[in-house]
Amino acid sequence: MDDHNSAAPLTAHRAGRLSGRIRVPGDKSISHRALIFGALAVGETIVKGLLEGEDVLRTAAAMRSLGGIVERRKPGEWHVHGVGVAGFAQPSVPLDFGNAGTGCRLTMGAVAGCPIRAVFDGDASLRKRPMGRILDPLIQMGARAIEAAEGKRLPLSLQGARAPIPIVYATPVPSAQIKSAVLLAGLAAPGETTVIEAEASRDHTERLLRHFGAEVAVEPEGAHGRRITVKGQPELVAAPVVVPADPSSAAFPLVAALIVRDSELILEGVMMNPLRTGLLTTLREMGAGIDVMDAYSEGGEDIADLRITATSLRGVDVPAERAPSMIDEYPILAVAAAFAEGTTRMRGLRELRVKESDRLAAIVTGLRANGVECEILDDDLMVQGKGAAPGGGMVATHMDHRIAMAFLVMGLASEKPVAVDDGSFIATSFPGFADLMRGVGANFL
Ligand code: S3P
Repeated sequence: MDDHNSAAPLTAHRAGRLSGRIRVPGDKSISHRALIFGALAVGETIVKGLLEGEDVLRTAAAMRSLGGIVERRKPGEWHVHGVGVAGFAQPSVPLDFGNAGTGCRLTMGAVAGCPIRAVFDGDASLRKRPMGRILDPLIQMGARAIEAAEGKRLPLSLQGARAPIPIVYATPVPSAQIKSAVLLAGLAAPGETTVIEAEASRDHTERLLRHFGAEVAVEPEGAHGRRITVKGQPELVAAPVVVPADPSSAAFPLVAALIVRDSELILEGVMMNPLRTGLLTTLREMGAGIDVMDAYSEGGEDIADLRITATSLRGVDVPAERAPSMIDEYPILAVAAAFAEGTTRMRGLRELRVKESDRLAAIVTGLRANGVECEILDDDLMVQGKGAAPGGGMVATHMDHRIAMAFLVMGLASEKPVAVDDGSFIATSFPGFADLMRGVGANFL
């Protein structure tokens, strides 16, 4: 399933106004979890609105290799028959997660609670990303890393625990992936497994585990943190999941509509989980015209239609505590900051160095290639906004979908075109991005 044999360069040219109504694909975090939890539940889980991006398809394939029955019935509608908590079968092939950190790390947690051995692998980008942060707690719970590439990286072979041990684990960095891996392994352990996080990270695992019948207690911890406890060995019961539109994907047309003059765009059904809306908070502080038109609740998440109107933005200071609620949105925020008046300082971005690429480096190199002044000061990124950007550069995307989309959006509003060396990785999270954007007036060639 290698979809990236050849790079697909793409160039964005200055656009007229963007206008229309669009719905971006389903949320990636919820889509991975719906498949994994469905595979651990008893009965048939019906998922609607699943993101059919490459990352999620890798997770679907992994769930099949582990014994789940996973079927696509129609576009976005998937049926999963699970094996029960700790019921995964030993896979006969390596689990290849491609570019998908979330699918890989959450599955490692689930496998750690089963008495099986599985090989985890991924593409060149995923092979560079740290897995020690996941292995460390899982080893405390009784799993063993039989073999791993240097620096605790993929490919690695994980032997799950025969008798998983419940632990109390304080995550070293705020990460929903670490938290989720520990909670998933904790499902198979007797007693209670607790994760303590100093800053609250996205809580889809907690919400969905409850939806599938697990007992999950969440208490505040310190000023911004949480203490999450799952009661082990529940019977997870299949439950329907409706996946809302991904706010991290919506971020790209959203910023495009703000910076392309005279635009007005409506984004339908966007998930408004407060642990995912840091970008909206920040853009509003920058003066952005974002109206919540219609807010409702579905499948345990708040959802809204958003109306975006092109606005002159001003630079702001983005506090480090906000990073977990917009961790995937810094590439596109940096682009918005280039079109604002004044300096934007984004604080506490160390985690950006270990995403699909070193995003801090990729953002700075891409902005500079397009005539935007910026610098990294410790873990902070400073962008000098001039109300407009020259463009004219070629951006190296380093197998990173969000770097590609952010700079394509930049090219819609900059004076000269912006090119990206490879748009093919966009399909990992936002299949159809270029065509959806063309449909509202984007000029991508
Ligand atoms: C995700 C968590 C985040 C985020 C990723 C999706 C998740 O990673 O960057 O795109 O679904 O749990 P970290 O938990 O490593 O911050």
